[in-house]
Amino acid sequence: MLDADMSRQDASNAPSPRDAGEPSAMTNAAEPLKLVIVGHVDHGKSTLVGRLLFETGALTEEKLAKLKAVSEKRGQAMEWAFLLDSFQAERDQGVTIDVSRIHFQTARRPYVVIDAPGHVEFLKNMVTGAADAEAALLMVDASEGLKEQTRRHAYLLRLLGVGQVAVVVTKMDLVGYDQARFEAIARDIEAYLAELGLRPNVILPISAREGANISEASAAMAWHRGPTVLEALDGFAPRPAPAFRPLRLPVQDVYKFDDRRIIAGTIAAGSLRQGDTLLFSPSGKTARVQTIETWSAPPKVEAHVNEAVGVTLDRQIFVERGEVASHLEDAPILTNVFRARIFWLDDAPLAVGDVVKIRINTTDAEARVQAIERVIDTESLAGGGAEQVKRNEVAEIVLRARSMLALDEARQSPETGRFVMSRNFRIVGGGVISMEGYPDQRASVTVRSSNLTATESDVDRDLRWRRNGHRGLVVWLTGLSGAGKSTVARETERKLFNKGLNVYVLDGDNVRGGLNANLGFSPEDRTENIRRVGEVAALFADAGVIVLASFISPYRTDRDRARQAAGDAFHEVYVKADLSICETRDPKGLYKKARAGEILEFTGVSAPYEAPEAPECEVDTGRQTPEESAEQLVAYIEQAAALKA
Ligand code: ADX
Repeated sequence: MLDADMSRQDASNAPSPRDAGEPSAMTNAAEPLKLVIVGHVDHGKSTLVGRLLFETGALTEEKLAKLKAVSEKRGQAMEWAFLLDSFQAERDQGVTIDVSRIHFQTARRPYVVIDAPGHVEFLKNMVTGAADAEAALLMVDASEGLKEQTRRHAYLLRLLGVGQVAVVVTKMDLVGYDQARFEAIARDIEAYLAELGLRPNVILPISAREGANISEASAAMAWHRGPTVLEALDGFAPRPAPAFRPLRLPVQDVYKFDDRRIIAGTIAAGSLRQGDTLLFSPSGKTARVQTIETWSAPPKVEAHVNEAVGVTLDRQIFVERGEVASHLEDAPILTNVFRARIFWLDDAPLAVGDVVKIRINTTDAEARVQAIERVIDTESLAGGGAEQVKRNEVAEIVLRARSMLALDEARQSPETGRFVMSRNFRIVGGGVISMEGYPDQRASVTVRSSNLTATESDVDRDLRWRRNGHRGLVVWLTGLSGAGKSTVARETERKLFNKGLNVYVLDGDNVRGGLNANLGFSPEDRTENIRRVGEVAALFADAGVIVLASFISPYRTDRDRARQAAGDAFHEVYVKADLSICETRDPKGLYKKARAGEILEFTGVSAPYEAPEAPECEVDTGRQTPEESAEQLVAYIEQAAALKA
C-alpha cells in the first residue's frame, strides 16, 4: 500500500516522496495523467513506485544519498520499498490517510500516482469522485500467480471504472525470468479480466527490484517483445480535460426579468458561444443562445468551463432547474436506469427496493434500488452478492429513477458523472455512474420529424376484431435465451391457429434477419430492436391479429414502451427458467461460447436481464414441459382475446 503523505513521517526514516516526486516543470506542463497502482503490499508496489521515481529522475541525488544512508544504517541492501513502506505502519496505528499523490514525469508527460487500494478512505475518495484515475497498473506476483487477492484487485479496477489497465507481472527474478511462467500467468489474468469486462492494454513481465523492464528492456527477458513499464504508461490515452469535452451547462436557476428569462448555471464542461443551438435534456427542447450574461461584467460572446453564466435564448421555452444544456451533438445520455458504484455512509443500511433522493449536478430525482449486485468489504476487498449495503461499504447497484434523467458516465466525465444520495435530508452516500450493459435511450424517445398529421381510419379496430371473432393482442414473451420462448410460442401458435384464431409469431432470431438486420446486441441495438418490434406488434394487434412476440427483451423500460404502444392489448408473459437451467439446456451452444468469451454481451452472462415485476402471466418452463406451458398460455390467451359482449 502506498501513502505519499510522508511529511508526517520521521525524517530519519526515509526521504519524502512527495517532495521527491514533485517536479518543478509541473507548473507549466500539461495536466498529469492520473494513475492508480493496484496490488498487494507484498507484491512489491512500493518497490515499483520507488523504481519509477528513480528511473524517471524524480529523486534528486540528495534524496538518493539519504535513501542509501537509511538503507545502510538498517544494514540492508538498497531497498526501494523503504521509500514508501510507511503505509502498513500507519494503518496499524489506525491513522487516517487522505488522498495522496506522488508525481513523476516521463519524456512524454507528467504522471500522478493517486492513493492505494484496500483502504476505506481511498475507496471513498475514488467512488465519490474526489479522486479519479484515468489508468491503472495492476500488479501480479510472478511467484504466486493469480490468487484471490489479485482477483479482488482486478475487481477494484472494474469498480473504480478504470478502463485502461496495464498488468505488470512482478518479481520475475524470483522465477528465473521464466517465459512459460509469465505466459501462464498472463493467460490466467487475461481470462479473469475478461470476465470483469476489462481488456488489459498490455501484460508485461518485470522485476522492480532489479530494474528489469521498468525504463529499459531487460536482457534477462529478451523473449519479451512488448513495452517497458514506462512505454506502457506512455501508451495510455489521457482523458481530455473538461475544457475540451462536450458542453455541459447544468441549469441552476431560471430568472424572469419582465418577459425575458435568464437561464443560469456554471459551465461544467466545454464552452458556449453566442448563436449556438442548445439542447436541454431531458426535456429535449432546443433554442439558440441570444446573449451570454455574467454577473459583474458586460455580456460575452463566449464562455468556458467553470464560468457562472446567465444565458438568454432566442425563443421562450420552458426550462427548469435540473435540465442540462448541451450542443445537439454529444448530448448527455438519457436514461431512467443506470448502474452505480456507491459508497454508503449511513448507519441504516441500503436495501433492494429502497427509495433514495439522488442529486446529479443540479438534478434532483428519486430513485429506487433495483438491484444490489455486489457489496465489497473495504478492508479485505472481499465481495459478493448481498441484500443490503452497510455503512462504509462499497457496492455495485442498479438504480431506477421515476423519470428520464440526463447524465454522463463517470468514465468519460468524472465531474458530471457522479451523484449524491440523501434520505430525510441527510447525505447517506455517493457514487459514480456507469451505463455498462444499459442503453442510452435518447434515440428511442426522440421524434425526429415534424409537420406530421396522423390520419384516421373508418375501419376501426373494433370492427376488425368483431369480424375475426376475437380481439387483437400483443402477447409479449420475455425471458432468457434458452428459457423456451420460441418453443412455447410456436406450440401456442399452432394450437390457436387450429382453433381458428388469427395468430402470428414475431421471433427475435427471425426478425433480426430482416426488419432488424442492421441491429446487433449492444444495449442501444437491443432497445431499438424492441422499440421496432413493439411498434410492429401494436400494429398487428390493431389489425386484428394475436401476436406472439418472442424476444429476450432484457430491459423493463423497453417492455414498458412496447406496452404503451399497444395499450390495453398488451400482455406480458414471463417465460421463466433459472439461468442455470438455460445454461444446462444451451440449445444453440451460445452459453458455452459466451462463457469462453467468444460472444460478448450475452444476456445473463455478461449483459443484464431485468425480469418482469408484475407480468400478466408467468409460465415456468423450468418446472413444466413446453407442451404444458403452451396449454397454460393458450388458456390465458383464449380468455384475454374473448370479445366483451
Ligand atoms: S433482444 O435482447 O434484443 O431482445 P432477441 O430476442 O432479439 O434479443 O435475440 C436473441 C437471440 O439472439 C438469442 O436467442 C440468441 O439466439 C441470439 N444471440 C446472439 N447473440 C446474443 C447475445 N449477445 N445475447 C443474447 N442473445 C444473442
